[in-house]
Amino acid sequence: MAKQTVLVSGGAGYIGTHTAVELLATGYDVVIIDNLSNSETAAVEGVRRISGVNVPFEQVDTCDEQALRKVFERYGFDSVIHFAAFKAVGESVHEPLKYYRNNLTSFMNICALMHEFGRPNILFSSSATVYGDADTLPVTEQTPRKPATSPYGNTKQMAEDILRDCCAAYDGMYGVALRYFNPIGAHPSALIGELPRGVPQNLVPYITQTAAGIRECLSIFGNDYPTPDGTCLRDYIDIVDLAKAHVATISRMTQGRMKQRYEIFNIGTGRPVSVLELVHGFEKANGLKLNYRIVGRRAGDVPAVWADTRLANEELGWRAERPLEETLRAAWAWEKHLRKIQ
Ligand code: NAD
Ligand code: UD1
Repeated sequence: MAKQTVLVSGGAGYIGTHTAVELLATGYDVVIIDNLSNSETAAVEGVRRISGVNVPFEQVDTCDEQALRKVFERYGFDSVIHFAAFKAVGESVHEPLKYYRNNLTSFMNICALMHEFGRPNILFSSSATVYGDADTLPVTEQTPRKPATSPYGNTKQMAEDILRDCCAAYDGMYGVALRYFNPIGAHPSALIGELPRGVPQNLVPYITQTAAGIRECLSIFGNDYPTPDGTCLRDYIDIVDLAKAHVATISRMTQGRMKQRYEIFNIGTGRPVSVLELVHGFEKANGLKLNYRIVGRRAGDVPAVWADTRLANEELGWRAERPLEETLRAAWAWEKHLRKIQ
């Protein structure tokens, strides 16, 4: 059988690079497009070095319909994984139009061209943020979505709905939304990883930058939540495990194993971990001490959210495998690689 090609939009980013590596390792051809608004060409070089494949890369803005059309004319892919989006929750509150324009225009362009060119499979990067402060835990795919608390979160809900409606309307279109929980860590080669701009908003990049001496002290946002140690509970999913979930999903789509034209899967470990557990886990995994202090709650944080992963386990034949300790070692190895620390 001829090799299948997958278009990876936003493929120079954190999740895109790791996914490209896993697709290539499984035998898929990959085309990466990215406008480099939150990434660098070095990330694509990292993918090429790890895979030994000279992956095609086009600097394209997915909001630019004409430029995107040329990509469809040039490459014969059947599937797209759409990562290209802005993702800073706080910024989205202050600049909503920037988020609605980029995240929705780009996704609608992708859907429209997939339809026009008769390309069937669309995998969309959604987020556990769609569940908000859920009434029951862990959350299943049936758990009702809560009204979004940020424009970013709203773009995820809206894009899910766009995909659902397109799959219902257009014969031959298949869609999957993967709802990621908290992706962390880096590739074991330390050649690719997360590249936060400015002060990191997410926990693990803040921890690794504190360990590297770039930040003085980690602030833990609240220890008075109704959780065992008072700090928030999250479902931290290793980035390589997350990347493999995309390969499993693309295989399901390209092999005609979908049960419905539009499907949703939670991608997490199914295990809640508190902020303090993660901090202490990082210290233990890497044999170092972290400077931290407890401060007040961060607005908008939910006390706890973690995934019921049974659907993904059963239907995708996928499960998270990497032990947290290894993930936290990889996160630190990547930070050291970035900062040239021995
Ligand atoms: P990232 O910023 O590292 O990667 C996104 C990539 O898309 C970047 O390389 C950026 O340059 C590119 N991009 C943005 N807008 C574009 C456009 N208009 N045209 C072309 N390229 C564009 O982010 P990531 O962490 O890899 O996230 C990937 C996707 O997963 C995003 O849709 C994000 O919302 C979603 N997601 C991420 C997380 C997370 O914690 N990282 C959690 C849930 C969902
Ligand atoms: C955030 C986003 C979510 C996104 C996810 C992954 C919000 C409200 N939600 O989720 O949409 O999908 O990132 O990118 O922003 N923490 C600290 N100190 C820090 C940073 C974080 O204590 O310096 C705590 C937070 O309070 C939280 C946990 O660590 O309890 C995880 O935080 P973070 O990594 O930002 O992820 P989420 O808040 O789960």
